[in-house]
Order: sequence, then C-alpha cells, then structure tokens
Amino acid sequence: MRWQLLVALVAAATWTAARGEVKDDFRGYKVYRLVPRTPQHVDFLNNLQSKLEEQVPVDEVEIWSDIGQLSPEAVGPVLIMVSPEHQAQMTKSFDAEKIPYEVTIADLNKAILEESRRSDVRSTSSGGISWTEYHDYPVILSFVDFLVRDYPSLVTKTVLGQTYEGRDIVLLKIGKPPADGKTKPAFWMDANIHAREWISSATLTYMTNKLVTEYATNQTIQGLVNQLDWYILPVVNPDGFAWTHNETKNRLWRTTRKVNPYSNCLGADPNRNYDHRWMVAGADQKPCSNTFAGPYPYSETENLVLTEAYLARQSQIKAMLSFHSYSQYWLTPFGDKTFPPDIAELKAVAHRAVNALTSQFGTKYKVGSPSEILYDATGGTHDWAKAKGLTKYSYTPELRDTGKHGFVLPPEQIIPSGIETWEAVKVIADQVIAEFGPTLD
Ligand SMILES: *[C@@H]1O[C@H](CO)[C@@H](O)[C@H](O)[C@H]1NC(C)=O
Ligand SMILES: *[C@@H]1O[C@H](CO)[C@@H](O)[C@H](O)[C@H]1NC(C)=O
Repeated sequence: MRWQLLVALVAAATWTAARGEVKDDFRGYKVYRLVPRTPQHVDFLNNLQSKLEEQVPVDEVEIWSDIGQLSPEAVGPVLIMVSPEHQAQMTKSFDAEKIPYEVTIADLNKAILEESRRSDVRSTSSGGISWTEYHDYPVILSFVDFLVRDYPSLVTKTVLGQTYEGRDIVLLKIGKPPADGKTKPAFWMDANIHAREWISSATLTYMTNKLVTEYATNQTIQGLVNQLDWYILPVVNPDGFAWTHNETKNRLWRTTRKVNPYSNCLGADPNRNYDHRWMVAGADQKPCSNTFAGPYPYSETENLVLTEAYLARQSQIKAMLSFHSYSQYWLTPFGDKTFPPDIAELKAVAHRAVNALTSQFGTKYKVGSPSEILYDATGGTHDWAKAKGLTKYSYTPELRDTGKHGFVLPPEQIIPSGIETWEAVKVIADQVIAEFGPTLD
C-alpha cells in the first residue's frame, strides 16, 4: 500500500528544476514536521529519502533532517520541504503511513523574507555588522577589515586564496605574542561550509567580536587571548553563501558553486570533500546530490586552502570547531562508527561545554558521534581535523534549532545563540589552556 503511494509520488515528479539552476522563490512551499513513532516510520523516511534523491530535484522536495537507521526516538522530528505540486501526494503518503505530522512553515517564501528583513537599529560600529540581522559576505569582510584596522596589535588577516567565483577566503588570527616568545596553543573555529546554515557564521562573528572588542576591558577575555591564538575562518564557502544571500537566487543552497563537467548541477558538498575516508559513507557520487563528495578529494578550492592553512599551524591547534546548523548536536569524531582512542576525554569535555551552554537559556544539545546520533557520513571537517590535523578536541556543533524553523532561523535568535555558544567555547578554551598552555613558573 505505502509502496504504491510512494511510486505514485515519484512518478508524478517533474524535472522542472535541477540543482544549480536559479530558484528565485519558494512561493507556496511548505515545510512539514514529521514525528516518527515506529521503526516502520523510520524505514519509510529512509526509503522516501533515497527515492527523492534519485528522482526529484532537491529544490522541489528535500528532507532537511538527517535520518539514518536509528530508533524513532533517536531520529526525532524530521523536516521536509515540499513544493506546491508535490504537497497532495506527500501528505497522502504520510497519512497512509499514519506518521504524525504538522505544517511547521506554512509559507516558506514568507519565512525567508521575514528572516531577511533589515533591522531598524543600524549598527555604525564594528564595520557595519550587527547581530540583529543576517549579513551577506561583503558585510562580513568589512567587519573583518574593521577589526584588523582598529585592533592592529590583536588581529591579523590572511587571504588563503580565492573561491571558484573569485571571492577571497579569509582567515583571522586573534592573539598576542607570548612574552617569552614561546608558541601558544591555538583554537580554530570555522563556519558556513554549508551555505544555507546562516546562524553558523552569525554566531561565530558574534564570538569573534567579543574576543576582540572586550579584550581591553575584560580580564577573562584577556586571559583567553593572551594564552591562546584564535584562528577564525568566518565563511568557508563564500560562493555558496553569496548565492543564498542573493535575493533572486536560492536561500537553501548548500554546496559550493564550481561547474561540474558532464552535469548541469553545480558544486560539491565541501563537508564530504576532505580526504579522510572520502566517499566511505553518507556521501554521493552524483553531482546533483546535495551530498556529492566531489569528483575527488580536494576538488573544491575551499577545502584545499583550508587544509593547507590548517596543516601549516597544525602543531599549535588543540581545538577545532566547525559550526553548522541545525539540530542542537555537539558531534564528536568519527562519522563511520569508529572512534579515536581518546574519545572518552573528548566526550567528557563536550558534555561540560554543552552543560555550560544549556545553563544560559536551557537550550539542550545532544553529544555523540554522527553514527551514534544521526547517520554515518565521512569526508567532513571535524573527522579530517582529528585524523589528519591531529587536533585533540575536534567537534562539529550543529547549532539551533531542533526543527521549528530549521535553516531559516529568525534573526532574534542570533544573539542568544552567540551568548550560549560562547559559554561552550570558553569551557573548551579553558581545557586547552590547562592541558597545553604555557606552564607558569
Ligand atoms: C568578562 O567576560 C566573561 C567571559 O565572556 C564574562 O563571563 C564576564 O561577565 C565579563 N566580565 C565583565 C565585567 O563584563
Ligand atoms: C545577484 O546575482 C546576480 C547574478 O549573479 C548579480 O548580478 C547581482 O549583483 C547579485 N545581487 C546581489 C545583491 O549580490
């Protein structure tokens, strides 16, 4: 019965858009929130996912949540974005499955316009950036330049290279040289390797601003900047990010933007493109898939320049956070059911970090490896940083929320996300200082 419906759904799919073409609006799109209750529901969702991947362009119907072969409780709520022409079929198949669902975003286009609205409070300081609205890449670059110009003794900028479309990929360093000329441990943070996950760079620039602008007046911050070097790469995937910010293009773009030979679909998933166990799990070889791993490791310049910069500082870097959204997970390595030998330490520190985060506003995070709490996936940043970068505390935080707004998180949540995430970052920073910091005589 349910298979007939699923087949009907797939047969009705039209090829009106492929990934890579312009998707200028999401008028009439709805986002459904499904709550799987039985193992059969989970099977249904997994089957639906593979059928959709084969047959329906991701900008018509896309399962936003990661599912995997887990218990229904572990899977939790699942968001599915559906274009108007597929809604009747989809809800029919949900009903046939008896899977509970509700419409969580009734009009995706409206939600996107609402999310992008400009705040009335214009920021004149900090290079025109604020944390009451989301900003596009030029504003983030001007914020970076403002920090370098106004805090020259604290902040330096390195252009790591250019993206496929020619945008600068920029790395910031925040730190004071240690008095005795010794090398300090370092903390690396990056964001927006997935273009549509706007809260990731918004949260990261919030914390960056705090480290720099509060240095002069706050002893805690002074300690953190004097004892650590901070490397910050605010937007790993600027081309994809710019595409999500262009009002006539695609807010829900995920990948890079490089042209693929023999395909109309652009880009690859840069969080599957690293060469630690590349294409082993949770990655795709089809260019039109949103988890296309690229034709070979480091096919994407963004990945290549990141790893070169990282390896050049490898002996210094003791902690690495690659921010994503959404789900409220603090992911530990690795993505293929294996664990590093020091996983107990990594998890203990992650639990302390998450407890500090939760203490601010009660926001709850789950701690575990991708295989434990969602699905297997290899070729991503935090696995690479652990295995090849040899960074002890390597994590992927999946920021707010758990599936009310998904990727389209209202800008009112930027500052709370910044405040609570900073608490977690401080716990990890303190751990790195205690473990690797210069010993005091
Ligand atoms: C200094 O910064 C720390 C860390 O962000 C914060 O907890 C503390 O409240 C700040 N102190 C003052 C006086 O603002
Ligand atoms: C949007 O993209 C088009 C085509 O690439 C470009 O001409 C335009 O300047 C972009 N708009 C913004 C606001 O970046």
